[in-house]
Amino acid sequence: MSRIAYVNGVYVPLRDACVHIEDRGFQFADGVYEVCEVFGGRLIDETRHLARLKRSLSELGIGMPVGEGALKVILRETVRRNRVRNGLVYLQVTRGAARRDFVFPAADTPPTLVVTARSVDRSKAEAGAANGISVISLPDNRWERVDIKSTGLLPNALARQRAKERGAKEAWFVDKDGYVTEGAASNAWIITRENTLLTRPAESGILRGVTRTTLLDLARRDNLLVSERPFTLAEAKAAKEAFVTAATALVMPVVRIDDTVIGDGKPGALTARLRARFHEVAERSL
Ligand code: PDD
Repeated sequence: MSRIAYVNGVYVPLRDACVHIEDRGFQFADGVYEVCEVFGGRLIDETRHLARLKRSLSELGIGMPVGEGALKVILRETVRRNRVRNGLVYLQVTRGAARRDFVFPAADTPPTLVVTARSVDRSKAEAGAANGISVISLPDNRWERVDIKSTGLLPNALARQRAKERGAKEAWFVDKDGYVTEGAASNAWIITRENTLLTRPAESGILRGVTRTTLLDLARRDNLLVSERPFTLAEAKAAKEAFVTAATALVMPVVRIDDTVIGDGKPGALTARLRARFHEVAERSL
C-alpha cells in the first residue's frame, strides 16, 4: 500500500509530496515538529503534544497553520489513509516559503504544514524492549533552546550516527558539569539503588518530553519515589536500572552506558513494569 502525506491542504502519495525549495524549514530549519504515538488506532497523549506544538510555535513566533480542531482532523485522516493501527504520526510546521532572507518573511506568509504516518511492528518493538538498548555518552553541543521542538536536529543526528557506529541505539548528552541532559531523541532516566526514579528537571537543558510527563504521572500515582534532579554520568553508570522515554520508544530499558553494564545487563524489573503500564495512564483519543 502506498503511503499518503498531507501537505498544505492536500493528501498526496508520499512520492509526489513536496515543499518549495525556498521553504524556511529547508533553508534554515525554521520549523517545529511533533511525533505522536498511535496505539490501537488511538492517538496517545494528543493533548500534550498539541500543547507543546503551540508552545514551540509561539516561542518562535510562527502561527498555527490551521486551527486546532482542523489539525486534529488532519492527524486522524492521515492515520486513517495510511491504515495505521500501531505506529507514529509526524507533523511539521515551518515559517513557510519565501525568498531566502534570514529576517522573517511578511507576516501573511502561510506556515507550511506536513503530516505523515507510518506503522510500527509492535512485536518487533516489544522484542527490542525485552533486550534493552546500549547508549553512548557525548558532550552536549546543542544550542540553549532545546526546550523548543525544533527541526534543527543536526547535533542529534550526528550523535545518533555516532551511537550506531559504536553499536549503540542512543546517545546521552552530558553537559559541561558532567550531568546527563537527555538522549539525542529521548529523555534519560535512572533508578537508584534506593529505588528512586531520577530524571532531569525540564526547566533547562532538555525537551519536556510528553512521554516523560505521562510517566511522572504514572510513577506518582503508584507512589514510587521520584526526584526531578540532574544526575551525573557516573551516577548513571552506578544505577540499578536505566531507561529512556520518547513517543517512538515509550519506556525503553538501557542495559549498557559506554562500556558499563547496568544492573545484570538485562532490563530492570521496575523499568519493565513502567513500560507495561504506560498506556494505562496515557491519554488515548480516537
Ligand atoms: N523525539 N528529547 C529529545 C531531544 C527528543 O527529540 C524527544 C522526542 C524527546 C522525548 O519527547 P516525547 O516523549 O515527547 O516523544 C526528548 C521524537 C520522538 C523524534 O525526534 O523522533
